[in-house]
Amino acid sequence: MNRKVTVVGGAGNVGATVARAIASKELADVVIVDIADTKAAGVALDIYQACPIDGSDTRLIGGSDYAATADSDVVVVTSGMPRKPGMSRDDLLNVNYKIMQAVTEQVVKYSPNCIIVPVANPLDAMCQAVFRLSKFPRERVIGMAGVLDSARMRTFIAMELNVSIKNVHAFVLGGHGDTMVPLPRYSTVAGIPITELMSPERIAAICDRTANGGAEITKLVGTSAWYAPGAAAAEMVEAILKDTKCIMPCSVYLTGEYGVNDQFLGVPVKLGKGGVEQIIEIKLTADENVALQKSAAAVKELTTVIGV
Ligand code: NAI
Ligand code: 2OP
Repeated sequence: MNRKVTVVGGAGNVGATVARAIASKELADVVIVDIADTKAAGVALDIYQACPIDGSDTRLIGGSDYAATADSDVVVVTSGMPRKPGMSRDDLLNVNYKIMQAVTEQVVKYSPNCIIVPVANPLDAMCQAVFRLSKFPRERVIGMAGVLDSARMRTFIAMELNVSIKNVHAFVLGGHGDTMVPLPRYSTVAGIPITELMSPERIAAICDRTANGGAEITKLVGTSAWYAPGAAAAEMVEAILKDTKCIMPCSVYLTGEYGVNDQFLGVPVKLGKGGVEQIIEIKLTADENVALQKSAAAVKELTTVIGV
């Protein structure tokens, strides 16, 4: 295969799920890197052995040596501590920042032209750390969160209205935390805004469940989610490698868009082979804008703590 994707932290839950999705879609060869080196080798081999069943010619290897990652097209960074019940994503800030420092240096050394997709939490702050450390242009550092949060909202809308998930679109903007901003006005079923289909109370309940979607799974499972996060990151990788120009909410570095300057935040972007090919600015109401600015301020607090 002439495409290569590295998944750093790929021996863990989210990373292995991303690697598996990329392999089953036959998007690229996959290198799994993890400090748990034998586990990385084993996970890569296990996924490789699923490829004959999937009919995929993806090749996988795993270990802790970044030399194998050289010239990756995309590097997904899932290395980082997940939260346990009762922890917020922000509790992971300092420990995961240290991991980003170690990882980014190696990624840049071996794949100076790659697109990096950070996944580790707290997501927007980790994106900003990777962006500053890598010195990559902003088009090539794209955080995964909005695709997951929107997928959660889509699921809840489909459950509520008993409609096909295929008819449901949803947008969740802002930081990947308690202040995220689900946008009912831009969330539709077969093109009809959900504001026409549900009571304000039911919409508020869905928005609330979306914002707490990560905590809900963490409480049930004992660690944070991985199937939906892995699928979400793989969808971004697919859009980049296939140059699909799909529009999806991602955490990107804003320089004035949405009135936000010099920081990462989740907004709709067009993804293609260049990474972020366009930042889509949609009109927000005064209330939506207040919520987005509050979310931006929450991200800023975190980036200030780690000085990025
Ligand atoms: P996990 O603990 O299953 O996997 C993390 C992996 O990272 C482990 O295999 C560990 O050995 C590895 N690792 C740690 N330090 C490393 C280093 N310096 N170099 C290479 N590998 C290293 O955790 P899980 O559940 O996969 O979550 C990973 C991260 O993704 C967490 O920070 C979690 O909060 C975050 N997350 C983010 C989501 C999002 O929407 N952005 C959704 C779900 C999880
Ligand atoms: C999630 O939303 C914890 O960020 C992770 O599931």
